[in-house]
Formats: sequence, C-alpha cells, structure tokens
Amino acid sequence: MSLPPNPVNRKKLLNRIANVLESGIPSSMKKHMHDFRVVRNDRLSEHYYVLELECPQHLPEIFPGQFAEVRVDHSPLTYLRRPFSIYDVDIQANTLSLLIKKVGEGTVTLGRLKAGDFLNLVYPLGNTFSDPDGDEVLLVGGGVGIAPMLLLAKSLYAKGKIVDVLIGGRSRSDILEPHLYEPFTRNSYITTDDGSAGEKGIITQHSLFGKDVLNYSMIYACGPDPMMKAIAALAHLKGIPCEVSLENLMACGFGACLCCIVETKEGNKTTCVEGPVFNTRNLAGW
Ligand code: FES
Repeated sequence: MSLPPNPVNRKKLLNRIANVLESGIPSSMKKHMHDFRVVRNDRLSEHYYVLELECPQHLPEIFPGQFAEVRVDHSPLTYLRRPFSIYDVDIQANTLSLLIKKVGEGTVTLGRLKAGDFLNLVYPLGNTFSDPDGDEVLLVGGGVGIAPMLLLAKSLYAKGKIVDVLIGGRSRSDILEPHLYEPFTRNSYITTDDGSAGEKGIITQHSLFGKDVLNYSMIYACGPDPMMKAIAALAHLKGIPCEVSLENLMACGFGACLCCIVETKEGNKTTCVEGPVFNTRNLAGW
C-alpha cells in the first residue's frame, strides 16, 4: 500500500481521528484503538504470513469485510498506518488475525514481529458485505485478496447459506490456507496461472464459469482490480449480483484525507468509510 499523493496535516488528522474515536456513534459501529499482543506470527511462505493478535479488552463485534489500520513501529519510512482486512476472529481466545503479504518496508517490518510483541490497531473500520437474497453464493479471492473471505464464509455458513469458494493465484504458494474453508463450504475450487495447483489458467477462466447456468444469488470477490472487474463482468453476464472489496490507497481510514475516493454512480465515495465493500452495479466504469 503506497502513501497518498498529497501530504496530510498530521496534527489535524490525529485530532479528527480522536474525535471519531470519542464520538457518540452506536457501539456496534464504534471504532477502537488498542495495543494487541502478538500471539503468533505464522510464516505461510516467503511472501505471506498471518499475525494472530490478542486484544487487551473484549473484542467488539467485527463484521466480514471490515479492516484494521495498523501502526508500523520501527519503520522510519512507514509514516502512516497500513490497512489490512480482518482475516479471522476467535471470540473464545479474544484474538483476531491479519493475513499479510510482504510488499514493502512496512509489511516486511511487521513480518519480523514475534510472540509477545505489541501492535497498535484502529479497528474495526469500513462496512460489510450484504446478505444474499437466495441460498447459494460464490466467494472468489485472488492471492492475498482472499483475506476477507474466511470470515465471510463463516458468517454466511452460520446463516444457513450454501457457500462455494474459488481461490486463485499465480502459483501454489499464492493459494493461502485453502483447508480453512472446508468446514464452511460445499465446494472449494483452486486455480493457478501456472497450473501448480488446481486448474491451470487465470481465475476467470475456471471451468465453473463455463457452465451455462450458475445458481448463485451473489458473487463476492476480492483481489487485484483487473480480476475483480473480470469477475464482475462475468457476474453481470449471468445476471448475478456481485460485491467486491476494494483495495484502494488508504491513509487515515476515517474519511478525513480523501485519498481513497472511488467513483460511483451516486458520486464519489470514500473506500475507507463507505466501503471497502461495494456492489459492482454501483461502481462507475465497472
Ligand atoms: Fe483517508 Fe479514506 S483513507 S479518506
């Protein structure tokens, strides 16, 4: 995630963040700032790891698609917090997890955290996915874009929905923890560009999309923009509603800096507050 194009007034921004944190918004939407204790840092491969973090207080309710803004300490070039989808929540253990890909100094620094270290999070931020009208849904995740789909699969399964998941990546090492979806899904499909796992080809070429009729009442997707646009086009072609979780540039996470604006058919919206989840029918140019 890169920095916003324009510099922000940090003092004003911090004041605004403090105002939001202290405002009288409903408790279910209230934002929190806590120092989490690192329980474990699981290295999945050279490029990916999962941080499990214990909250010092009872975790608030967290909805699929919401994210956390993480302060990266000991990283002189990482001035602003970094946004990460909340990957999983364990209410019994009072922990949440973040699935992270190493893409720059900030994420490399976070990858060095050890059990017992502390990490400051502002969370839970953003909106969540809609419930589908029907019973069957498809979840699609490309690479680290799979991050919001685990909580979503659990939530939809708990609501009695029939969930299929399609996980794609360049190669086997980009298919992240596919076994975690098994308890909550009917079918789990995998595709890799190089054919090292699952079907060979890009995610939108999966044989699933070759079927004349798909009975899904919603397709949910997260991943690189071109992938999400291609999934949205396929969904529209088959008359299926589609929601995507956008991964735009973010800095404040509170609607203050306007660096995460997305153009919708109802005007410009902030990805951090009015998103990151959008129905693709509402996105301009999709
Ligand atoms: Fe600042 Fe969205 S990240 S307005």
